[in-house]
Amino acid sequence: MTDKILMCPPDYFCIKYEINPWMNIDVQSECPLAQKQWKNLYDILKNHLKAEIKLLEPKEEVPDMVFTANAAVMHGNKAIISRFKHPERQLEQKYFIEWFRQNGYEVITLYPDMSFEGAGDALYLGNSLYAGYVPRTGISSHLYIAELLGIHVISLELVSNSFYHLDTCFCPLKDDYLIYYPGAFDEYANKVIENNVPPEKRIIVNDEEASYFTCNAVNINDAVVTNLTTKRFTKLLEEKGFRHFQTDLSEFMKAGGAAKCLTLKI
Ligand code: ARG
Repeated sequence: MTDKILMCPPDYFCIKYEINPWMNIDVQSECPLAQKQWKNLYDILKNHLKAEIKLLEPKEEVPDMVFTANAAVMHGNKAIISRFKHPERQLEQKYFIEWFRQNGYEVITLYPDMSFEGAGDALYLGNSLYAGYVPRTGISSHLYIAELLGIHVISLELVSNSFYHLDTCFCPLKDDYLIYYPGAFDEYANKVIENNVPPEKRIIVNDEEASYFTCNAVNINDAVVTNLTTKRFTKLLEEKGFRHFQTDLSEFMKAGGAAKCLTLKI
């Protein structure tokens, strides 16, 4: 079955505000370079890995809408739409709702007082949905989503400002492998991961790799696509039978995002 992925071209992408430690309005992304990097990622996913890519129309007032991972968490045909913590990104919500409605998905919205940042903070592994909390997503949304969908949600506390979304430090792969960065989680969350994921299924990144957002990977079958990273990481992946594709995403790192953030599997 082909993977279907939602992306949003970076026509208006820039660093307009600062809502995570990677963003600095004095360190601007270069527009033509960002366009080129985004297109390279798009080409790898579409042409090499044969994913079906759907596009969301970019809007000038929401430069971070390129990060479609934050649109929603998907469950079959249901899209549980994000409620962004920061007002700067709340404007995106209406465009996401509109897109999912127009494309035949069942749109579910959360209570206004819940913060929840979609697949940026909620990822399926095995039979569970693992969900990050504190920096962006509030834990009350986890419970609500578990009840709403009748699924098992495992909450993981994120403790490092630099890894403010679960998908910056945790990436489930095919056959229940997991790439993750232990330094982003509190001790209890680390225990939970260790208790649920057998050692041979864990692919642990080091500090350097984590700083390149190596965990922010797109996985299509046996292929894993990341920002540029180390030879060590490629070797780790290959030992587990995966193929590694790297592509420079420096301009998106300036906003605190990389490969996975620019995509949403729908
Ligand atoms: N500048 C964006 C923000 O702070 C980056 C989002 C990255 N998305 C992700 N799924 N990690 O919200």
